[in-house]
Amino acid sequence: ALVLTAGALSACDATARAPVVDTAGQVEFTNPLAIPPLDRGTVASDGVREFALLADEGTTEFTPGVRTTTWGFNGSYLGPTLAATIGEPVRVRVDNELAVPTTVHWHGMHLPAEMDGGPHQVIDPSQTWSPSWTIDQEPTTLWYHPHVHGETEEHVEMGLAGMFLLEPPDPGRFGPPHSYGVDDIPVIVQDKQFTDAGQFTLSTRGFVGSLGDTVLVNGTAAPYLDVTTERVKLRVLNASSARTYRFAFDDGRSFDLVGTDGGLLEAPHRTGEVQLSPGERAEIVVQVEAGEQPVLRSSTPDLGMPDAVAELNGGADTLDVLQLRAASVLEPSQPLADRFADIPRLDESDAGQERQFEMDGLQINGQSMQMHTVNEVVEVDTVEVWAVRNRMQFAHSFHVHDVQFHVLTVDGEPPPPELAGWKDTIYTRPGVQYRLIMRFEDYTDPDTPYMYHCHFLTHEDAGMMGQFTVVEDASTAPSTIRTEGAD
Ligand code: C2O
Ligand code: CU
Ligand code: CU
Repeated sequence: ALVLTAGALSACDATARAPVVDTAGQVEFTNPLAIPPLDRGTVASDGVREFALLADEGTTEFTPGVRTTTWGFNGSYLGPTLAATIGEPVRVRVDNELAVPTTVHWHGMHLPAEMDGGPHQVIDPSQTWSPSWTIDQEPTTLWYHPHVHGETEEHVEMGLAGMFLLEPPDPGRFGPPHSYGVDDIPVIVQDKQFTDAGQFTLSTRGFVGSLGDTVLVNGTAAPYLDVTTERVKLRVLNASSARTYRFAFDDGRSFDLVGTDGGLLEAPHRTGEVQLSPGERAEIVVQVEAGEQPVLRSSTPDLGMPDAVAELNGGADTLDVLQLRAASVLEPSQPLADRFADIPRLDESDAGQERQFEMDGLQINGQSMQMHTVNEVVEVDTVEVWAVRNRMQFAHSFHVHDVQFHVLTVDGEPPPPELAGWKDTIYTRPGVQYRLIMRFEDYTDPDTPYMYHCHFLTHEDAGMMGQFTVVEDASTAPSTIRTEGAD
């Protein structure tokens, strides 16, 4: 009964969920925030930067004395923060020591389809997978997570996720803080539901997916971060299965949004809040005064739907996330540049095709994910517009593999600042049309698809996903592909 099947859901089935959660002001921040180890790998004799990830089961004490069964990479929960510089060739050796097959997908990365780690690149137990590619995109915060067909939510919820930082050759140039673990902090946010015995449970899984009443940041419950500098950059990743967070500080202070999924904005955007649906990232720079203790909190997210429906989607919950504790004496920080860089905009007049993606039920364009079906064939070195609309009064999002896109219009209007930079995942408000523009480059493979899908993991697992190939010549490209094993 935990598995949701495509098309089988009505709004009446969707009411299973925990009561409204409100932890605001109630969390005592007793645990220092864990910082995942920064892993720059090693450069092999052929000049390739090599990383190693080993997925395994373990136990983690989120509460002292309570051992929770978890999965992790190179540890019991989550994984190291991988970092590479733009232009570098990389290779990752992934060993699967779990009892079940998994995959590792590089979310937001431009790379060949065979290296993407989607549902076709299965790593069986005790097997190794070693994808390699060259980092060729804007500096930003990406992440990695499993993408097993039908089981992504379980694998991510158990703890398989980590950050992948793409670094500029000259990190100091624009002024955002960049000392990892000092003033450049990963903030991997996940809400969890625990059983009385202290184990993870997906029992609160309703239509939107699994919502929990406990927030973990980097695997730490009730976390605080000691801040020693005047400014701190938070790389916020929503690695939750279903929850959309609307982040703001409890004292209402404003901060600078400096980057979104795929890179820096053109200029810092001064704001008091930033909303992230599952899979989205935001880089924010926060200024503190000595001794201050602001709390990063998620207030009721704006899901763009009636309150009663929003409540079923976690849209009534208020959660404390992370306390910043500024030291009594702070190191000075470099001021932020007023402007970072011009972002080359893709021009609509260059677009050869406009495709429509209608999300209805748990399907896209009336179809559910089939491993052997290629839903869309794209020709390499072309620009396309993808027009996406969520036809339901429920929360959905849209994520595209291989590319970063720009939002051209939101219901015909220019995008708001937080959607004006490079994105790979957007929340899709019910009824609203988002026109996305993207360029497909470099890699072709008529037999191996990339994915596009809703990033609410229950929905993705239920088949709210499609496949596209990038090819030289669409007129000769196959629309079905051979798949190994069962579909
Ligand atoms: Cu973050 Cu297709 O995934
Ligand atoms: Cu992805
Ligand atoms: Cu969805």
